[in-house]
Amino acid sequence: MATEVRPLPPSRVESLAGSGLSTIPKEYIRPESEREYLGDAIEVVTKSKDGSPEVPIVDLLDFDSPDEELCKLCVVALKEAAEDWGVMHILNHGIPLELIDRLREVGKGFFDLPIEIKEEYANDQESGSIQGYGSKLANNASGQLEWEDYYFHLIFPEDKTDISTWPKQPVEYTEVTKEFAKKLRGVVTKMLSMLSLGLGLEEGKLENELGGMEDLLMQMKINYYPKCPQPELALGVEAHTDVSSLTFLLTNMVPGLQLYYDNKWVIAKVVPDSLLVHIGDTLEILSNGKYRSILHRSLVNKEKVRISWAVFCEPPKETIVLKPLEELVSEAAPARFPPRTFAQHIQHKLFKKTQVDFPSPQ
Ligand SMILES: [Fe+2]
Repeated sequence: MATEVRPLPPSRVESLAGSGLSTIPKEYIRPESEREYLGDAIEVVTKSKDGSPEVPIVDLLDFDSPDEELCKLCVVALKEAAEDWGVMHILNHGIPLELIDRLREVGKGFFDLPIEIKEEYANDQESGSIQGYGSKLANNASGQLEWEDYYFHLIFPEDKTDISTWPKQPVEYTEVTKEFAKKLRGVVTKMLSMLSLGLGLEEGKLENELGGMEDLLMQMKINYYPKCPQPELALGVEAHTDVSSLTFLLTNMVPGLQLYYDNKWVIAKVVPDSLLVHIGDTLEILSNGKYRSILHRSLVNKEKVRISWAVFCEPPKETIVLKPLEELVSEAAPARFPPRTFAQHIQHKLFKKTQVDFPSPQ
């Protein structure tokens, strides 16, 4: 008797979406408990009511003002956004908008290539090599998959990058991405300075605690979300908080990011010329919980392909022990997080262990 072999879903969401299906395979259907605020992202934005909570917008222009008062007000605005939401749109970030457009073009240019060419860059998650082109593996108990494909690679510091893992097409990809990484690194320093000042610390404190110019790593993940026939049942990326210190996000102006704020899922509007920034777990730990790492996820939609560029700024995996900064710990405000290396933190999240399960860092 022939054994029934259940076909595996296609490994790339782009091929699945392009096959003209009208319902999505069950691996992509979210459980009932996650569905209350799911929906077509474009419709959700259109229907979001006036007066519903909105991600704060912080204009960084005054941080460089010779007027100290203006500069302080700018720090306060960022600090309040980091405490209340842990996510904000920043304006006047200093990256030329023309460079951002070029980054969008080369990223889109790669995903516009035929799948067979993209497959030449496929990563091998099972063996731990995560740089390159990929899709989520069904490595959780429920076998749940996400409605997206992605490209992942390290973009800074330049001496730690491996250009052989970057797309060779479009030909401008490498040059544009290197230039963007350099410019964005400047924004990282500025944000960390402002966030240090917001905690009453020296300007360079957080930058140093995270490894500084030589060791803080910037990893880029380009997320490609194909059109989805049943966006009310699927997620592009499932709910999580970022492990990074800061995450920067750019999009092709198609909405999708949803944030869990005030016990509700709230969609982020698209703000032209801004970068969206998340405070990640690492800064939540260093700040002893003053800055917040917010839970978020990505919705998909029926009409438009969404592309986003997320840059995760991470401390080195083993050499730095992450714990609340001494200056922020007192009898009245005891340490809320046990010490851990970044690698231990990632493991901890992967296996959803409790806070007390941390071994002592070496
Ligand atoms: Fe995220």
